[in-house]
Amino acid sequence: MTDEEFWRIYNFIKSRYGIDMSRKKEIVEGRLKNYVSNNGFSSYNAYMNKVEKDFTGALERELVNMLTTNHTFFMREFEHFDYLRQIVLPQLRQKEERKKDLCIWCGAASTGQEPYMLAMLLKDFFGLEHSMWDIKVLATDISTEVLQQAIKGVYEKEQIDNLPEHWKRRFLRSVDYGNRYEITKEIKDEVLFRQFNLMDPFPFKRKMHIVFLRNVMIYFDKETKKELIQKVYDAMEPGGYLFVGRTETIDRNNVPFSLIQPSIFRK
Ligand SMILES: C[S@@+](CC[C@H](N)C(=O)[O-])C[C@H]1O[C@@H](n2cnc3c(N)ncnc32)[C@H](O)[C@@H]1O
Repeated sequence: MTDEEFWRIYNFIKSRYGIDMSRKKEIVEGRLKNYVSNNGFSSYNAYMNKVEKDFTGALERELVNMLTTNHTFFMREFEHFDYLRQIVLPQLRQKEERKKDLCIWCGAASTGQEPYMLAMLLKDFFGLEHSMWDIKVLATDISTEVLQQAIKGVYEKEQIDNLPEHWKRRFLRSVDYGNRYEITKEIKDEVLFRQFNLMDPFPFKRKMHIVFLRNVMIYFDKETKKELIQKVYDAMEPGGYLFVGRTETIDRNNVPFSLIQPSIFRK
């Protein structure tokens, strides 16, 4: 991959998806190399010419699927779920007691572990009262490939090992003779998966009570992060909570939110 080819791909991805791969030439090349040669393209430029001219968007989708990093796992940064159970949900239950509706958005859902855990927590927290509430977990990601896996909701045994036993018993059923586990319909029905690019204007009609945007802004530069955080703020209910990854750096002086803990913000 020549430098010129690399910067072409970098610009394409950065301008459309906010993802800054300026220092990741090796990763970009490693992820595209086989695809480009197996599909008979004479060079990365020839490939990008095709991507840019493909008005169906299929090639672009494939490129995004190859270049995004989708690593996630059940129980990741579980402290956030504890905080939800102990502080946020009791507050919201009281605040929304009359309307009984809650909008929750997971904006980088990857293969679904995070939004499914949110749905499990909500079922657990509200118990019998759950059916009286209108609770939606919207789960979005830019990668169509991970969304397909998320919708299937099937995970290897090792992936679910750390989930609390009572959640496993209640919200997962074994498939393939116990080698893999599938999320039950009861939980799948609570989560709506959609493809959505965080760089696009937000189309939400209702304001969000809880937003999870964890481990995605690490791929964006400072300016992109700032603009995104402002859009998230505008899309939230007053008093709503934003959760970001615990190792992410967000300039606390540069955000409209109040900082509750290093990775928890409140409108
Ligand atoms: C590392 S995963 C994080 C998954 C999960 N939130 C977690 O913390 O475990 C980052 C996800 O962000 C998604 N992503 C990257 N840029 C995006 C964008 N512009 N719009 C929407 N999703 C994006 C990627 O496709 C990927 O699945």
